[in-house]
Amino acid sequence: HDSLSHAASRACKHIDIGTAVLPQPLQAESLYAATLQREFNAIVVEHDLKWGPLLGEGQNDLNDIKCLGQYDFTQADIVVNWALQHDKKVKGHVLVWHVTSPPCLQQLTAEQLREHLQRHIYTVMGYFRGRIRTWDVVNEALAPDGSLAENIFLQKLGPSYIEKCFRWAHQADPDAVLLYNDNKVEAIDTPKGDAFYHLLADLKAKQVPIHGCGMQGHFNAAGTGRNRPPTPRMLKQQIRRLGDLGLTVNLSEVDVRTSRLENPVLETVAQKQIYHDLVVAALSEPSCDGIWLWGFSDKHTWVSHFYYDDQPLIFDEDYQQKPSYYALREAI
Ligand code: XIL
Repeated sequence: HDSLSHAASRACKHIDIGTAVLPQPLQAESLYAATLQREFNAIVVEHDLKWGPLLGEGQNDLNDIKCLGQYDFTQADIVVNWALQHDKKVKGHVLVWHVTSPPCLQQLTAEQLREHLQRHIYTVMGYFRGRIRTWDVVNEALAPDGSLAENIFLQKLGPSYIEKCFRWAHQADPDAVLLYNDNKVEAIDTPKGDAFYHLLADLKAKQVPIHGCGMQGHFNAAGTGRNRPPTPRMLKQQIRRLGDLGLTVNLSEVDVRTSRLENPVLETVAQKQIYHDLVVAALSEPSCDGIWLWGFSDKHTWVSHFYYDDQPLIFDEDYQQKPSYYALREAI
C-alpha cells in the first residue's frame, strides 16, 4: 500500500511527513492509529505538551501559582511513547506560547516569571531528553502587523524573552534542534511574513541557538481573509531567503479550510490544488525539511471545534482518502 511517507522515501527525500496527534483517538480508534502508522514518519503532540495542559489544565486550578510545580506528563507520554514504539520522529510543541500558558503567571513579578519560564523549559526538555530532539521553542510571538505580540512575556521580560528562551532551551539540551513557529508568515512582501524573516535574521545575527522555523500553513481554500494562502512563488521565495539564513524551514500545521465556499465540487478542487501546489513549491526548496499536517482526518480537526464545521484535512470522517490526499501524495 503506497503512503505519504513511502512517497517521500521513494523520492529519496529525507523529509518529515508529520501530523498532529491526539491521545484520545489514538487509544480509542484503531483506524486512527493504523492510518497514522501507515502514512506518517513524524508526530507532534497536538495539545498535551503545552504548558497549561502539562499542569493539568481542566483538573487543577491554574490560577493558583502552586500549580506551577505539578507537571503531569501522562497524556503527552501516550502520544510520545506510541510514536517512538512505531519508529516515528517526535517534535515537541510548544515550550513557550502565551495562549496556553497558566493564567497564574500574571501574579508573578518579572524576576519570578523569568525564573519560572526557564524552569519550565528545563523541566519539559529534561523530561523528554533522548526521546524528543526537535522543539518548537516559541510560538506566535508576532502580531498581525509584524510587531511583537503584546503578551505577558513581552510585557514583563521585554523583547529579549525570545532569545532568552532559545538560549535556555540550548542549555537544557545542547543536542536539541530548536525552532521558532508562527502563522500567516508563509509569504514574502507581507508585513508579518517580512517580520518573521527579520526576527529570524536578527536571532541568527546575535548567534542565538536557533536551527529552523515552522510556518503553520493554516489556509482557506476560498483564498480570502486572514488565512488566504500565498501563491506558490511567494511561498518559495520566503523559504529561499529563510534557507539563506542557514535555517531549516517546515510547514508545521497545514490544513485547508473549505467552508467559506458554497459549492462542494469547487471546495474539493480548490483544497486539493492548495495541498498540491504549495507542497510542490515548498519541497522545491532544499531548506524545506518537513511537511506537517494539523491532524489528518476531518473527524478530529481542531477547526470544527474552534471555528465552524469544516473538512480541512486529507482523510474523511471514515478515514477514507479524499482527493486532497492523492494531490498531496503526488506533490511529495
Ligand atoms: C490547537 C489544538 O489543535 C487544539 O486541540 C487546542 O485545543 C488548541 O490548540 N496554532 C498552534 C496550535 O500553534 O498549537 C493550535 O493547536 C492551533 C493554532
